[in-house]
Amino acid sequence: MKRSKICLCLTGETIAEDLEIIEKYRQHIDMVELRVDYLNKDERLHVRNFPSLVHIPTILTIRRSIDGGKYIEGEASRTTLFARALAFADPDPSKNFAYVDFEDDFHVPCLQDAAFAYGTRVIRSFHDMKGTVKNIAEKMTKMRVTGHEIPKIALMPKCLSDVTDVFRQAKDIPDFPHILIAMGPFGVATRILAENLKSFITYTAPIENGTNLFDIGQLDPITLNTIYNFHNITENTKIFGITGYPLNTTLSPILHNTGFKKKNIDGIYIPIRAEKIEEALDFANVIGVQGMSVTVPHKETILQHLYQISAKVGEIGACNTIIKREKGWEGFNTDAEGFRRSLCSFLETDTLKGMKVAIIGAGGAARAAAAVVKELKGKACIFNRTPSRAKDLAAAYNFKWAPLNEESMILLEQYSDLIIQTTSVGLGVSEAAFHLPENDALPYYDFRGHEAVYDMIYSPSVTPVLARAESAGCRICNGLTMLQFQGYKQFELFTGETYE
Ligand code: ATR
Repeated sequence: MKRSKICLCLTGETIAEDLEIIEKYRQHIDMVELRVDYLNKDERLHVRNFPSLVHIPTILTIRRSIDGGKYIEGEASRTTLFARALAFADPDPSKNFAYVDFEDDFHVPCLQDAAFAYGTRVIRSFHDMKGTVKNIAEKMTKMRVTGHEIPKIALMPKCLSDVTDVFRQAKDIPDFPHILIAMGPFGVATRILAENLKSFITYTAPIENGTNLFDIGQLDPITLNTIYNFHNITENTKIFGITGYPLNTTLSPILHNTGFKKKNIDGIYIPIRAEKIEEALDFANVIGVQGMSVTVPHKETILQHLYQISAKVGEIGACNTIIKREKGWEGFNTDAEGFRRSLCSFLETDTLKGMKVAIIGAGGAARAAAAVVKELKGKACIFNRTPSRAKDLAAAYNFKWAPLNEESMILLEQYSDLIIQTTSVGLGVSEAAFHLPENDALPYYDFRGHEAVYDMIYSPSVTPVLARAESAGCRICNGLTMLQFQGYKQFELFTGETYE
């Protein structure tokens, strides 16, 4: 069977806009879909010439609003538009639409006959914008009324389990060309792993179309091609990924996929958005994921599902890396090592002997920080909004603790050689909200300039607290190198090869 193709959806308001977008992405795409429903009304009348303008196989689609499109003018005018676009077929097939998308309930025999007569292949599509489809193989078989149509099913998963079900069901689809997609942010895996679904097409969108691609679960063709190496994915490609929720932004796919390329490893690393860790594990088992990075909020809930853990996981009580073994999942923690390397290179030392360190926060990230401060022989005090958590963490390492409030600032001054910020305060803060006190992790503390300040957040690259520290003359560091170093260690665990 033919390999999956990258199709770029064209959603410009004018044909000129669409032509410009094609030129930008041409080297990354195999075909385009002209979404006539997005075109201005007067532009819609001129689509017949479109294939001869673009020199790339084109799907003709006029999507109705009930199927997630913009066409609201009714079936009669839609039928006329289809007829205009398919009429006067050229003997040179490259000047005709290569495909036309007719919805499963749209049967106009003369249009279908015209399409077949002039070599335009018919995609029969079914969209469920609200849920899942239980009998995909059977439904697709029925959609091939003449035996020549390419059935397409696009559904909207509500959770990762719905996507897992798509992969499960795809195994039963007979060996005919078909298109299968789970839409929305949970469905990203179906876009990247179209080859595993034997889906003839994966649809992509240009970053220029103004929609947040994350919300619709689509990737742009450059990302799909260069980061996810789409055309090299086969059934034999080893699959890895990162699971977390909401997993809106993650740099890990770039890091790992770059590593696979650099080391010539047939691997792919994908985002696996899961509200519950059990869903991520089920997904991994069904599609054969060999290893996963585990991030917020699953680093602790994963523990109960591991048959074996490393000593670091045992010590820190959190796991950020799992690897599939014969007996089950084995868990590791590379956050502590990533943090240690990053901190040592920031401070240009490999010991904290004689230093008094403040750790802000007492969650999972703070536990990794505490383990490293202990290992490097520093003395620390843990400050946390919920004092009991600070107390528990401090007890494990024989550190001091205090509530995170204005009264503790005198104590914080005494532990200010190095301040390690581990809370989520300031994470993803916008420019507009930058100066609000609630986005500053230490609003009552006046930096004096001697402090070294490390914030585990890397987006934004300078958080409000780091900005204040820097303007007071402090040395500052964000969590980007920690992310890289923990990722390098994960890569080593996943592949057995060093990253650098
Ligand atoms: P992580 O694994 O990223 O550390 P976590 O275990 O949920 O995530 O811990 C989050 C940390 O950020 C905690 O120390 C939390 O304080 P509480 O223990 O009091 O919940 C801290 N944190 C989150 N939001 C905060 C806020 N608005 N002000 C102060 N601390 C906050």
